[in-house]
Amino acid sequence: MQTVNTLDMLRTALRQLRGDGKLIALVPTMGALHEGHLTLVRRGHEVADCVVASIFVNPKQFGPNEDLNAYPRQLAADAALLEGEGCALLWAPAVEAMYPTGFATNISVAGISDGLCGAARPGHFDGVATVVCKLFQQVQPDVALFGEKDFQQLAVIRAMARDLDLTHPHVGAIIGVPTVREADGLAMSSRNRYLSPDQRVAATGMPRAMQTAIARLDSGADVAAVLAELEAEIIAAGFASVDYAVLADSTSLAPLTILTAAPARLLVAARIGGTRLIDNMAVNPLQA
Ligand code: PAF
Repeated sequence: MQTVNTLDMLRTALRQLRGDGKLIALVPTMGALHEGHLTLVRRGHEVADCVVASIFVNPKQFGPNEDLNAYPRQLAADAALLEGEGCALLWAPAVEAMYPTGFATNISVAGISDGLCGAARPGHFDGVATVVCKLFQQVQPDVALFGEKDFQQLAVIRAMARDLDLTHPHVGAIIGVPTVREADGLAMSSRNRYLSPDQRVAATGMPRAMQTAIARLDSGADVAAVLAELEAEIIAAGFASVDYAVLADSTSLAPLTILTAAPARLLVAARIGGTRLIDNMAVNPLQA
């Protein structure tokens, strides 16, 4: 695997890959790789001839009080993991290469970026949309893969790609890959490493409470009552607060007060100690 950190090196390496007529899958990441990221790479190999991964801790998607400086950086270890998965190329630009002096553009996908995590993290999805748009332009992959763990991020990226006509010819398809979970159900996340042993145990209460909520929805329980119980269960498990616990339309992320035949998603964000965890699960639509 070749690692490149300038746009010139990236373009040369991509020309070589494309020269061989290969279909390219892009897996954008911020590093601190875990099994969830490696699953994206494996899926990339199923849908394309070679996988290009990027590692860039994007300052534009961190708020002033967020963990940009503390965010784990472990390029050598991450590169070894990607190489082990057969990645062809790693794009690991410095901040100055991604955002040279004078960089002044912001991409904002209105509406879908505003609620849920967008409400607690103003500007976060602008930062994501801006960097992902740049990554798409830089790599021009045939497909790009993102984890469903960040479900709102995936929806924002799909909307951005649709609105800016990026899905053809540059990024033929944006593929959402199901969340990878630890054996006890906790969704894998680079932020799980911030949890103390006690918090790590308590954190499993979130996916457990979500499964219970989905079973209650399946049995026809009232949506508002189920969401209230879900919040209470998450707090009882040891979380300090719940930012949101919402049933939403899977595409628009508009909140739902009743289940319909359209695909729906249960989305939760909650704080435990200083760590904010998110999770989401598909909800069975109402049967006709
Ligand atoms: O999900 C992430 O790791 C990041 O938000 C992404 C998509 C790589 C953009 O920086």
